[in-house]
Amino acid sequence: MRYLDIGTTQKISKIGLGTWQFGAREWGYGEDYAGSQARDIVRRAVELGVTLFDTAEMYGFGRSERILGEALGDRRESVFLATKLFPVLPVAPVVEQRAVASASRLGTRRLDLYQVHWPNPLVSDGPIMRGMSALQRVGLVGEVGVSNYPLARWQAAERALGGRVLSNQVRYSLVDRAPERDLLPFAAEAGRIVIAYSPLAQGLLSGRYDRANRPVNRVRAGNPLFLPENLDRASDLIGVLREVAAAHQATPAQIALAWVIRHPAVTAIPGASSLEQLESNVAAAEIDLSDDEYTALSTASGRFRPVTGRAAVPALIRARLQRRGAAVRPVPSGSAPAGSAPAGSAPAGSAPAGSPPSDQEPAGSAPAGEEAGGSRPADEDPGYLTQTGEAVGEDGSVVPIIGGLPAAEGSAWDIGAPVDDRGANLAEEQRDSQPDQAGHEGTPGG
Ligand SMILES: NC(=O)c1ccc[n+]([C@@H]2O[C@H](COP(=O)([O-])OP(=O)(O)OC[C@H]3O[C@@H](n4cnc5c(N)ncnc54)[C@H](OP(=O)(O)O)[C@@H]3O)[C@@H](O)[C@H]2O)c1
Repeated sequence: MRYLDIGTTQKISKIGLGTWQFGAREWGYGEDYAGSQARDIVRRAVELGVTLFDTAEMYGFGRSERILGEALGDRRESVFLATKLFPVLPVAPVVEQRAVASASRLGTRRLDLYQVHWPNPLVSDGPIMRGMSALQRVGLVGEVGVSNYPLARWQAAERALGGRVLSNQVRYSLVDRAPERDLLPFAAEAGRIVIAYSPLAQGLLSGRYDRANRPVNRVRAGNPLFLPENLDRASDLIGVLREVAAAHQATPAQIALAWVIRHPAVTAIPGASSLEQLESNVAAAEIDLSDDEYTALSTASGRFRPVTGRAAVPALIRARLQRRGAAVRPVPSGSAPAGSAPAGSAPAGSAPAGSPPSDQEPAGSAPAGEEAGGSRPADEDPGYLTQTGEAVGEDGSVVPIIGGLPAAEGSAWDIGAPVDDRGANLAEEQRDSQPDQAGHEGTPGG
């Protein structure tokens, strides 16, 4: 493993682990994955030298944080733990409460990196950064980060904090190169880092998907990159990835990761649907691309012109209607709705064997999660604050989603509620008591 050395308490691995997949129904990896494989992935990652683990309060509505915290257990002190705040109500007391709730779910007294998940389009970052500053003072937060921030707003956030905002987590891969315009130069110059999310373009760059074999889960159904036409258009880039991979006895996914982390200020956080993928992704940190290979990949990437934005909307709506149709109409055994993956073609790990896509998405529901728009520029409004629909909770209940968050209150849904009171106590305790260097004294929220 290789590491970034930028004065953090714990060094940051060039390949980290993204954990949106943990317990988030929109990925459709099922209970065995959430209950067992995810834990094995985390523990193996630690063994292999991964230190950067990324989660968010929004992932699985807190479940990802719980799974990650439990899996880390007494290994927590050897990692750089990062989570994210969804800034629906960006005022300092709420920020402080959310941090305490996240720490509680993670079973830790310190968030090494606390990131603002998306820029709030209505409110500037002053109030959030006041909360962040207070959290840093009491030692609950180590470094502050942002995510999906354009450069000017990243810099404004630093001014509001009065200190460094260590990182900006943005989509960066061979098919999304917007960060090269100004985020990467700034990070390199100022000693900050860019955390590359979706570095494999949600699996597209593995080369395992094409028009005849499209992934079935809800995340990728909403990602224009996986429209049949775009999968066709990606074949040239995938071909170059395969050529370079052959020269390194590697896989296209590994080469795609090696390309992303070649920049000195970048670390990547691929998600993994299996232990094998995790191991393969970690090994990519050791691959050195030659200048010629890097250029060939960059050039092929420049030739890739996916259909995105408004032009992709009709096809996405068609795909969605077809999926809904599949959910409410019985589909004859062995057949598949037009435009979707043929029966039985689901990749290993993306859905339970033999189960139709409708298992992942009840009829009439809408995506509850996030980040489904694959080729949206990093600085566009994600639209979550206006997102409405329905989502299925951990307990199987269906609840309305308003403004990107569950409208109903209840233990499975109210992200912070079970720990609010105890959380406030934790903040006070931290102010009054000696910091616990051992760090992992269990879950304050009980
Ligand atoms: N800040 C934000 O707004 C934001 C947005 C998105 C993601 N994120 C973070 O970034 C992390 C990664 O992004 P992502 O999950 O969107 O995309 P990604 O890492 O590009 O893709 C992950 C998917 O690619 C496939 N894959 C992974 N390793 C592979 C390998 N070695 N070979 C073949 N296929 C492989 C797996 O799917 P299959 O096996 O099912 O094909 C896996 O679920 C997330 O977990 C999350 O922590 C943050």
